[in-house]
Amino acid sequence: MIIGVGPTTFRALMSTFPSGVAIVTTSETDGAPRGLTCSSLCSVSLEPPLLLVCIGNGSGTLAAIQDRGVFALNLLHHGGREAAELFASGRPDRFQRIEWRPTPNLALPCLAAHAHAAAECAVRRCVTMGDHTVVIAEVLDVEWLGPAEPLLYGLRTYAEWPPA
Ligand SMILES: Cc1cc2nc3c(=O)[nH]c(=O)nc-3n(C[C@H](O)[C@H](O)[C@H](O)COP(=O)(O)O)c2cc1C
Repeated sequence: MIIGVGPTTFRALMSTFPSGVAIVTTSETDGAPRGLTCSSLCSVSLEPPLLLVCIGNGSGTLAAIQDRGVFALNLLHHGGREAAELFASGRPDRFQRIEWRPTPNLALPCLAAHAHAAAECAVRRCVTMGDHTVVIAEVLDVEWLGPAEPLLYGLRTYAEWPPA
């Protein structure tokens, strides 16, 4: 009888389920920007407009999101691969290495050159499940930024839309 799988099998399974790529950003109460690359993004509800992201419990970005109660979702376009790599790198100076500006309403970090859309979101609930926390949030506003072709991630590699 199969009673469970380890992380290697689970990763292999999920790598066969491709997704878009987002950079989730927020700022500390003193204004310091925080952000990470995130593909665990899922629509939850249409009315109200809710989505979820899952963030590792040790993430500094998660702690800042829980403190502030708001975040911005930067949906990367096909030219956003370097930004995705930077925000997955763990580098503490990631915001010094990239162009960004504040979002219109909440002044959260917007990566306008790398994203085709940015959504300002307010946290409605956080649920810790295993080593990640599910952050359920309401979309408050959307800014359309540029070319709509999204960056894709699957089989542990980046790809463009439409796939070659
Ligand atoms: C394509 C891709 C998708 C990722 N998706 C997630 C995710 O959904 N949740 C997460 O916690 N980490 C995800 N990561 C890993 C984080 O981006 C990485 O661990 C980051 O350094 C965390 O930053 P922080 O701990 O400073 O907040 C992803 C990495 C890559 C390359």
